[in-house]
Amino acid sequence: MSRICIIGTGYVGMASAIGFAELGHTIVGFDIMPERVADLQRGITPYREAGIEETLAKHLKTGRMRFTANQQEAVRSAQLVLISVGTPALADGSCDLTGLRQCVAALRKCDLTDCAAVVLRSTVPPGTSDDVAKQLENIAEVIYAPEFLREGNAVADFLKPDRTVIGAESITAAVAYATLFEPLQAPIMLTSRRSAELIKGASNAFLALKISFANEIANLCDALGADSLDVLRGVGSDRRIGPAFLMPGIGFGGPCFEKDLKSLERTATRRMVNCELVSGALRVNERQPKRIVEILTAELGSLQGRRIGVWGLAFKAGTDDIRDSLAVRILEDLSERGAIVRAFDPAIRSANLPENCTLVTTALDAADADALLVLTEWPEFREVSPHAIARNLSARLVVDGRNALDIERIVDAGLRYRGVGRTADPVLELEAVS
Ligand code: UGA
Repeated sequence: MSRICIIGTGYVGMASAIGFAELGHTIVGFDIMPERVADLQRGITPYREAGIEETLAKHLKTGRMRFTANQQEAVRSAQLVLISVGTPALADGSCDLTGLRQCVAALRKCDLTDCAAVVLRSTVPPGTSDDVAKQLENIAEVIYAPEFLREGNAVADFLKPDRTVIGAESITAAVAYATLFEPLQAPIMLTSRRSAELIKGASNAFLALKISFANEIANLCDALGADSLDVLRGVGSDRRIGPAFLMPGIGFGGPCFEKDLKSLERTATRRMVNCELVSGALRVNERQPKRIVEILTAELGSLQGRRIGVWGLAFKAGTDDIRDSLAVRILEDLSERGAIVRAFDPAIRSANLPENCTLVTTALDAADADALLVLTEWPEFREVSPHAIARNLSARLVVDGRNALDIERIVDAGLRYRGVGRTADPVLELEAVS
């Protein structure tokens, strides 16, 4: 069993820490935020994810996990040092590598005698880990090993990977890291550091591309009176295409896709390479939240003074994260148009919302409005009685930006339903456009 130091205790760092502890390794987590370290040491996680607090508590008790705000001490006697610090987007779309640079500068002063490799796991532009290797020349071997973890599902994804990608120039270092993943029995791919960096960027770009494609087809379904769920199910049933990430909605949000695609686009532009599909996926995604508001205005007319109920603020179900959530962008748009918004999200107890937007504590409280907008696909929304919704919804309109509700039950309760590429009566819709 190995002694592993993990630098950075965000989603990726914590999922890796818990995952490796589950596999029997000893983990020391380091973070520059002393308050976060103190919380973690008491078993309090910085974000919501099913099962994560219980597993953390278990490993704090077994002594397999501990946290410190002292990097020198965290790294001392570690056999592997994993870096998973944040690499957020700058205003021009490039990656902010300040945190990573600080971390590497600090590592140069640490005792890395026992360390087989420093493993960079943060998402970075290609070429970054070669730079880190130069910084750590004669101090430690450097590996780039991307993560493919989804927020809300990160520990499960860690323990059940489709593949483990290891970008390394030294076989000994690669083997030291690869050995950790043997019990997971997933294929291990050994590449150069640069290729591994691009595998991460290109994977996120392809997933985002699928979502934008689904949204484009769903918008076409709206115009043609076809049903987007049937169409995309039919498309995804082709094994060469696959059903995953073809769910149309309000667009892809969250801290990864938009940032990573913009960073890839920028890297390509710098090298004078056209990445038109990546740019196209971003453009479709920019328009999609506006499309949801267009559906609302097509039904209601001006939104000035209209009361809009909103279900869901998180960028997807299963998380309390509203970073780069398109639901929040839609709220901003509604607020600018003079709407009065009551928003509910089962995972969010407080948030800084735009003017005239209030956070309420129950789904039905939010539905006390003219129309209801569904912006996150929380499964519990399907459990709310459509008749109870209908009682207070004065314009009797539900715009389901995630195709999350049961269309038949909504219509049976006397409500109008507009989804993304789905309406209550596609045939009538077709007649209306022809
Ligand atoms: C994404 C990738 O899925 C992970 O593999 C990757 O490791 C991670 O980014 C990262 O780079 O760190 P994540 O951002 O947590 O994970 O969330 P996803 O589940 O991929 O969803 C992203 C957005 O796309 C959400 O807003 C979601 O609602 C939306 N989405 C997803 C759709 O609109 N339709 C879909 O079919 C799937």
